[in-house]
Amino acid sequence: MIPGRFAGRVAVITGGASGIGLAIARRFVAEGGHVVANDIAPERVAELQAELGASGLAVVGDVTREEDVALLFETALERFGAVDASFHVAGANRGGYIARMVEADWDFTVDLCLKGVMFAMKHAAQAMMKTGKGAMVNIASLNAHVPMHAGAAYSAAKAGVEMLTKNGALELTPGGIRVNAILPGLVQTPLTKRLFDNPDVHAAFMERIPQGRAAQPEEIAAPALFLASDDASYVSGASLLVDGAWAVSGYPDMRPWRN
Ligand SMILES: NC(=O)c1ccc[n+]([C@@H]2O[C@H](COP(=O)([O-])OP(=O)(O)OC[C@H]3O[C@@H](n4cnc5c(N)ncnc54)[C@H](O)[C@@H]3O)[C@@H](O)[C@H]2O)c1
Repeated sequence: MIPGRFAGRVAVITGGASGIGLAIARRFVAEGGHVVANDIAPERVAELQAELGASGLAVVGDVTREEDVALLFETALERFGAVDASFHVAGANRGGYIARMVEADWDFTVDLCLKGVMFAMKHAAQAMMKTGKGAMVNIASLNAHVPMHAGAAYSAAKAGVEMLTKNGALELTPGGIRVNAILPGLVQTPLTKRLFDNPDVHAAFMERIPQGRAAQPEEIAAPALFLASDDASYVSGASLLVDGAWAVSGYPDMRPWRN
């Protein structure tokens, strides 16, 4: 915790009502900033609004709908006057093997994880161009680099997020807007609950992760906030692995637990 680091600053967060997004929201506010977050889950949005109080706004929205994303950034500008940081976190996975890929599962995953980030970057860019400064942090995944069984759509989308980050840095850094990505390994959130509930699957993951445990969402929020802070003033176009050294040991063979 760095008290006052984000005093007077405003962050937008997509998927801010759970897991990594919620940890980012809590820490940004704890360090003095204001937060405007969206999420597709109305009951979680209501809980987040109650928690944020006057420190922020939580709104229901779907990152795959451009009008919802545009409204999120308009809301931030109207309520707080600027967007200094934007964290693009919303994501989920509908798995499927390539040989049996269901088009609707592919579209769900790629639209949410890739198109949703592109819409957020577009509207974050327009908001930040008003002041000529800002920092975006895209949440990709270790799966941008490492495939997983039945994870083609998710891994391809996350690899796309990494390239969107580089393209964003190329286009926007000259205008004072930094764009970076975080590639988390395994993080204990509602998204990964199934892995933690199955002792065999959990053990297979732990065997591969040199740090011997999953991250807590706060351990992803900390480097995300670093990338949004002035301490990262010369960092743009970077991909930061936050994975307990998992990338250097490889992914477990998930075939025994997939049908
Ligand atoms: N948990 C992990 O191990 C892990 C690892 C690598 C990357 N990630 C990525 O981190 C991000 C956050 O994941 P998490 O683990 O915190 O998951 P989570 O399920 O706890 O939180 C994701 C939030 O996004 C929201 N969301 C889903 N679809 C949305 C949509 N269309 N529009 C707006 N909001 C939507 C959900 O309601 C949820 O509140 C995701 O992009 C995920 O792919 C997670």
